[in-house]
Amino acid sequence: MSNENPSERAVQLREQLWTHNYRYHVMDDPIISDAEYDALMRELRAIEESHPELIVPDSPTRRVGGAASDKFAKVRHPVAMLSLGNGFDETDVRTWRERVFRLLGEATALSFTVEPKIDGLAIALTYEQGRLVRGATRGDGEIGEDVTANLRTIASIPLALHAPTSGDSASPLAQIPASIEVRGEVYMRLDAFEQLNKRLAATGERVAANPRNAAAGSLRQKDPGITAARPLRFFAYAVGPFNGIELRSQWETLQMLRQFGFPINRDARRFEDFEQAIVYCREWMQRRNVLEYEVDGVVLKIDSFAHQRELGVVGRDPRWAIAWKFPARETTSRLLEIVVNVGRTGVITPNAVIEPVNLGGVTVRNASLHNADYIHERDIRVGDYVTVKRAGDVIPHIIGPIVDRRDGSEQIWHMPATCPACGAALERAAGESAYRCINVSGCPAQLIRRVEYFVSRGAMDIAGIGEKQAEFFVEHGLISDVADLYVLTAEHLRDLDGYGAKKITNLLAAIEQSKQRPLMRVIIALGIRFVGEVVAQLLAQRFGSFEALMAATEEQIDDIDGIGPEIASSVAAYFRDPVNRALVAKLAAVGVRSEAAAAAPPRGEQLTNKTFVITGTLPGMSREQAAELISAYGGKVTGSVTKKTSYLLAGSDPGGTKYTKAVELGVPVLDEAGLLALIGAPSAIGDLSSREIQLPDTPGQMTFDV
Ligand code: IVH
Repeated sequence: MSNENPSERAVQLREQLWTHNYRYHVMDDPIISDAEYDALMRELRAIEESHPELIVPDSPTRRVGGAASDKFAKVRHPVAMLSLGNGFDETDVRTWRERVFRLLGEATALSFTVEPKIDGLAIALTYEQGRLVRGATRGDGEIGEDVTANLRTIASIPLALHAPTSGDSASPLAQIPASIEVRGEVYMRLDAFEQLNKRLAATGERVAANPRNAAAGSLRQKDPGITAARPLRFFAYAVGPFNGIELRSQWETLQMLRQFGFPINRDARRFEDFEQAIVYCREWMQRRNVLEYEVDGVVLKIDSFAHQRELGVVGRDPRWAIAWKFPARETTSRLLEIVVNVGRTGVITPNAVIEPVNLGGVTVRNASLHNADYIHERDIRVGDYVTVKRAGDVIPHIIGPIVDRRDGSEQIWHMPATCPACGAALERAAGESAYRCINVSGCPAQLIRRVEYFVSRGAMDIAGIGEKQAEFFVEHGLISDVADLYVLTAEHLRDLDGYGAKKITNLLAAIEQSKQRPLMRVIIALGIRFVGEVVAQLLAQRFGSFEALMAATEEQIDDIDGIGPEIASSVAAYFRDPVNRALVAKLAAVGVRSEAAAAAPPRGEQLTNKTFVITGTLPGMSREQAAELISAYGGKVTGSVTKKTSYLLAGSDPGGTKYTKAVELGVPVLDEAGLLALIGAPSAIGDLSSREIQLPDTPGQMTFDV
């Protein structure tokens, strides 16, 4: 590319960027990822920098977004809606700060605001005498589209500015301006986006690649009735032209907008100290996984409007602000193949093999496709370009195909009729989306998965056994169930690749040692559907032995606080099955613990009547250790957050819905230090770990097919 004629290359790049701009901003249906777009833009910028004579006035490097479409009447923005310069790491942000200080003078006292950069689309709302008279999209920054009727359907956009209450009247801001333009972002929350995509897929419509496109597509509908049916939200972050009031800073603006009834992001902050602002930005990167909406970065702004004016704008980007972009979590790649995996309960899951692609610093080669319905509803074909998303610890998954990039060679995929491991027929129970291999006791793939699960760290924690060893045992016919692990001998393991006498002795010792694991971990290791550490703990506490658990009725199980009917039914069904009963008996016969150890005496009552839910990775203890600690002090741990939950104990990367649920219900969120403070024993885990607790992790790393 570099040896190409720069002038020709610039023409090519401009054309490509125009096309992609149009697809993104006008059609709301991009066909390349942001990273690919950014790379094209960077290349064009570099050419224009070294060959300024090649710059044309309408180069994509000079413009914001895309042109307004013909679908709506056009609106000229009285003051251009700008874009933001991007920084991709801390160094970029520090460089920005240095430039600001250079321009304003090193000694200038500056405040900075930090606001999340929610990924939606920018709009401008004009209020005259306090009433909403017009709403427009950003368009190319100069000319947008009149989408007033559609914007009026969004509940969080006030149709009239709230008059200041008497309590506010002391504030100089608390008066309705003669006119004001409020700017902000229309966006869709993640759960709403997923539901919308499910609905679209079910009716055979094209799914949106991400919440941003979903929001843009929903807003830019000819029929406001469709917009009204889409769960759009708005938050305000700036003002355009206004008169009749005085505003001196971004922070003041946000407070005023809040008074007028606009949703303001509750996480916006002002800092006098740049270093503190940086710390806050870094925290944001961590929090990204627990938010109910997609953020693609944080925006740092110089607070004072006087300073903003002094700094001015270059091209389309103000010098007084920068977007610190987070690593992308979504990209495009090519779907090379769909392979199916057999899980421990026989569930067959299709997985995508994709052209390796960098996603947020990690090379992704495989991605989940969920199930066959997902593939068919979204019409995902082998050979398609697809949108791939990876958020937090979640396994990357395919969102959908980029239909407009098809060349006709793509192949429709079909679920195989038989199990790829054992050849048994696959079945699909009525009402279930999963296909299963029904050869429960004879399918080698299922047994391998069951062994992997049984030995995993959250279960029997047998070091030295992983996929490779499990395959060896099964393929050599050494075991026909997990209990057979306990009758393996050195002779059996002789041919295990890479294993000398010492390693074999260690392996057998690890197996032997695992017989002493507490009852709850043996319960986990059985791999009963819906039974993780919390439920296993409750079952072990309530019944105390396999004998009692196997004799329990479904009602007795259901009666346990923290266990619902679905779980109770799954547990009861498991223990009704003669094959499972025989397995439990066999485990007991080989010496695996089948009774709970005598309960440790309580160590305190600080947590009596308190219920906890645990989520995420704690820094100094496993989740199970935390659960033991809580019960040692009289508290209880349950699996899901409700109004009755006293605390959510949250570690890093909590993911899932527990965190958001807790925030929604106003359940206090504690970290590990907070828990220890409640107990009043900062060293609690120190003496706890001297007892037999060796569960540093949950079986979370494994693929569950519940
Ligand atoms: S300020 C000149 N603040 O990011 C400043 N923008 O790439 C213009 N955005 O067009 C925008 N959150 O769509 C600003 N807190 C925030 C924002 C934000 C999201 C979007 C907005 C803007 C784009 C710039």
